Amino acid sequence: MNFLKNFNPVLTISSPGRINIIGEHTDYNLGYVLPTAIEKKIVLQFQKNETEKTCRVYSKDFDKGFEFDLSKISISENAWENYVLGVLNEISKRTDKVRGFDCVLESNLPLGSGLSSSAALECGIAYGLNELFALSLSKLDIVTLSQIAEHTYVGTQCGIMDQYASVMSEAGHVILLDCRSLEHQLIPMELHPYKIIMLNTGVSHNLATSEYNVRKLECEEGIAQIQQKYPSVKSLRDVTEEMLETCRKELKTTVYRRCHFISKENQRVLDVAKALRNSNLERVGELLYEAHEGISKWYEVSCKESDFLVEHTKKNLLVLGARQTGGGFGGCTLNIVHVDAVASFVESASVAYKNEFGIELTYFEANPSRGTATL
Ligand code: GLA
Repeated sequence: MNFLKNFNPVLTISSPGRINIIGEHTDYNLGYVLPTAIEKKIVLQFQKNETEKTCRVYSKDFDKGFEFDLSKISISENAWENYVLGVLNEISKRTDKVRGFDCVLESNLPLGSGLSSSAALECGIAYGLNELFALSLSKLDIVTLSQIAEHTYVGTQCGIMDQYASVMSEAGHVILLDCRSLEHQLIPMELHPYKIIMLNTGVSHNLATSEYNVRKLECEEGIAQIQQKYPSVKSLRDVTEEMLETCRKELKTTVYRRCHFISKENQRVLDVAKALRNSNLERVGELLYEAHEGISKWYEVSCKESDFLVEHTKKNLLVLGARQTGGGFGGCTLNIVHVDAVASFVESASVAYKNEFGIELTYFEANPSRGTATL
């Protein structure tokens, strides 16, 4: 793109991906989640280009860019452009202060790996424009407008976890987020002598968006049914196991299983938070295994590759727990591994995975990191 020749950025933003320790699909059921940002991130550089309406965005990794007019924002056929356009569309409903700008992106965050590269891009754009044009958006505005952009321009009816974690995280901590009140507590993540090792299955099944939206509808169906008996219930977050059992006959089996998972998973988030505060890492590990079982058998958002990797860890006494993280159908598994066993663990998982699926496993160590920031 032509603008690159004279690109003279005045602002650099770092926008991280996230991992989720526990609490999958609980966010859109207004329950609890326990994510944190990680070191892998998108770096976005910005300059004003002195035009009224012309905006240009270029990705170094893909050597691709696009240009758009601020007064004619609409959904693009190129999927990745919608993360940017959706955010601009939301910002335009809140302020008219944005003018022409140029933005260059560079990322070490793998796409489609359940690490929220989408939220990182949305929040990075929103955060950068907020700084560049002094839009006076709060951090929470950035989070919520980015989430809406994902609903309207990308088409995933996601909850708020990814955007919240990307923006609000603090180094060395996980966020215990109440997705109803949108208040959070920071919990120190002290795992020594263990580490978080992420194994990337290398698969991202394209069921991710369609099945995600189906799960959300199944939960809504469950709630509508449960409300007939318990009118005060507002979301699955309010549904106890006892309540669910009394409604069991009225619910379709699949819907019952989805609700059962959410109710259990929500409690697991609180239990893991408590175990972390008490430095009870064995308990954290047990709950991760339990959560994976739920993800795989009850919520049915796992896949054979993730199941294989989680199962493989169970033979290793130096691994406390493992589970698939993120929206599902592939991406990464999160493993709590003793420092002395990291190399042998990765080696044995890689060999077994290659034998089974013919895929090279990649891995990285994840450390709780700060959220979106100006560099
Ligand atoms: C995706 C969504 C999140 C959340 C997770 C599952 O990452 O964007 O809102 O629902 O899946 O926990």
